Amino acid sequence: MVKSADSKIQPVDLILYKSRGEKIVCLTAYDFRTAQIVDSAGIDLILVGDSLANVFAGCNNTYEIGMTEMVYHTKVVSRGIKKALLVADMPFLSFQVSVEEALKNASELLKAGAKAIKLEGATELTLKIVEKLTEIGIPVVGHLGYTPQSAGVLGIGKVQGRTQSSAQDIFEQARSLEMAGAIALVLELIPQELASQITQSLRIPTIGIGAGLGCDGQILVIDDMLGKTDLNLKFVKKYLDLEKEMRRALLAYASDVRSERFPEENNSF
Ligand code: KIV
Repeated sequence: MVKSADSKIQPVDLILYKSRGEKIVCLTAYDFRTAQIVDSAGIDLILVGDSLANVFAGCNNTYEIGMTEMVYHTKVVSRGIKKALLVADMPFLSFQVSVEEALKNASELLKAGAKAIKLEGATELTLKIVEKLTEIGIPVVGHLGYTPQSAGVLGIGKVQGRTQSSAQDIFEQARSLEMAGAIALVLELIPQELASQITQSLRIPTIGIGAGLGCDGQILVIDDMLGKTDLNLKFVKKYLDLEKEMRRALLAYASDVRSERFPEENNSF
């Protein structure tokens, strides 16, 4: 793997993973300590996703956060990273308005510590934005299939690309994003066969979430895979039941305080 002087994984390295058949392991993170732990576990790519809105801030959708929140959390997460590639999401309406607006906001995320930005969809304007950002040296990760910023139109959490024509649309959008200069593509909630076809037809890597094994990498929202959220999502594998573990610890603490078993002698001065 090619490393920069500070030995962080670089955006251009992603394509090397694909050419070597090495899977790209990705997770989201929203805070410093989680980023440190995720980074030290050898996760290749950390995304400050706009899932921040739902997962961290308790919003019902991703519309409720903007550049202020994304810049803040990107800074916070970037302090915890020694090696992983940090990607930050362009939040709702931070790029859908104009190339100029997209450029201004993408550069804010870069200044906050992101090494690449991610944006959803492949409209004519989005493709122009990807071209422009790439031209001036800002690496872009695309995001196709289920795109949460369009949940109002697509239907919340609805698998995309099930019909032949919508599958064809996603396939063509993927090709267009690659042509426009995207360095990788997140494929969310699409049939595994479609994701595999896209993956095989692209030079750039695909990172799946609910898109099957055929992608070049996988991403999950960290709170989902650690079992901190109370959602039961088919595409998530829970590696820990953090909610249960936290409850157990919290009940033990409350009981210790109430029965004067905490603080103990060795917690006191
Ligand atoms: O916002 C996010 O966390 C994402 C991932 C689920 C891919 O876009």
